[in-house]
Amino acid sequence: MTLNLPMCDLNATGGDMSEEEMHQAIDAIKQRMGDDLIILGHHYQRDSIVQHADLLGDSFLLSRMASESKAENIVFCGVHFMAESADILSRDEQKVSLPNLRAGCSMADMANLEQVEDCWQQLIPGLGLSDPITRADQNAPAEESESYLVPVTYMNSSAELKSFVGAHGGIVCTSSNAAGILDWAFDKAGPNGKVLFFPDQHLGRNTGLAMGLQEDEMAIWSPDDFPDWDALKKSRIILWHGYCSVHRRFNTGQIEALREQDPEALVVVHPECTREVVDASDAVGSTEFIKRYVEEAPSGSRIGVGTEINMVKRLNDQHPGKEIECLDPMVCPCSTMYMIHPTYLLDVLQRIEAGEEANRIIVPEEIAENAKTALDRMLSIPV
Ligand code: 13P
Ligand code: SF4
Repeated sequence: MTLNLPMCDLNATGGDMSEEEMHQAIDAIKQRMGDDLIILGHHYQRDSIVQHADLLGDSFLLSRMASESKAENIVFCGVHFMAESADILSRDEQKVSLPNLRAGCSMADMANLEQVEDCWQQLIPGLGLSDPITRADQNAPAEESESYLVPVTYMNSSAELKSFVGAHGGIVCTSSNAAGILDWAFDKAGPNGKVLFFPDQHLGRNTGLAMGLQEDEMAIWSPDDFPDWDALKKSRIILWHGYCSVHRRFNTGQIEALREQDPEALVVVHPECTREVVDASDAVGSTEFIKRYVEEAPSGSRIGVGTEINMVKRLNDQHPGKEIECLDPMVCPCSTMYMIHPTYLLDVLQRIEAGEEANRIIVPEEIAENAKTALDRMLSIPV
């Protein structure tokens, strides 16, 4: 298959080097810096970045690695919210760099602090719930008689939102631990309390359904629409309206077409896909889960995967005895993950080696403190 992937601007240092020279230069810097440097890579990174990553993982694993790493310099090949979390979780003397500062996440941008605070100000009185900020021990289960609104933010959100959540007795989740985290949040909300989940409606809905909630127990909150108070009052989880533009491309027609061609084909998708796509699939899970699912499938399997194309293509290359294909015939890289190019990686490494604080991600202390509380709560829950 020919991939028609978007071009990347090559203005940084290294633009006049051949691809091979660039890789050699990156390897040489890694060798010279030794234990002073660690390169973390998300599964959606292109192969030419993955080949330099010391550790490859999903958002959860990478945040854990950032909290455990000893290296003075952490270069994060992923998107902005991941590098922010790494900075929050790392020690004060460690420095986190993002090779291309434009690498954001369109889903994370769908909820900002002002919108979430406005939503909160309406929901607390509108639903007659208490704000967990008033609790002496935010980690204790709620009493029978107490009803709180507990905020849960997906890792794919700004540090400011993680800080909001930490201050208001809430927690961060990733796609690999969302059910355990929602359990924690319901325990803190009380039998008649509720959870506000942002920004990805699909992860929230798919997790709620897997935990036994009904569709009408999960109402949508959109900052642009008038609240539907009847639906909000009935719900257990209030879902922010956000979504991932990459995972939104997958649909049940693609799954039907694959199964028509090959009734034995397996389908595994990421929980950022819609409920209909998840229902029609054989398995659902984080990028790390998808990797394991493909590894563990019997030789000769054909597997349709509903996630980002760089990862799907790599899984196919790594498993010559299996046929791994993207459910979407129109190839769809995550355009922001794709902004990390070896040119930028080399540039940032050269500057770090020269003693510069290259593309450093620093979360201000007043935001980091509560954001760390929310991240630490997540990391303390067994998965
Ligand atoms: P994972 O946590 O599964 O790696 O997902 C992150 C992400 O951004 C998926 O779109
Ligand atoms: Fe964000 Fe979607 Fe890209 Fe993941 S795939 S980083 S959610 S835009």
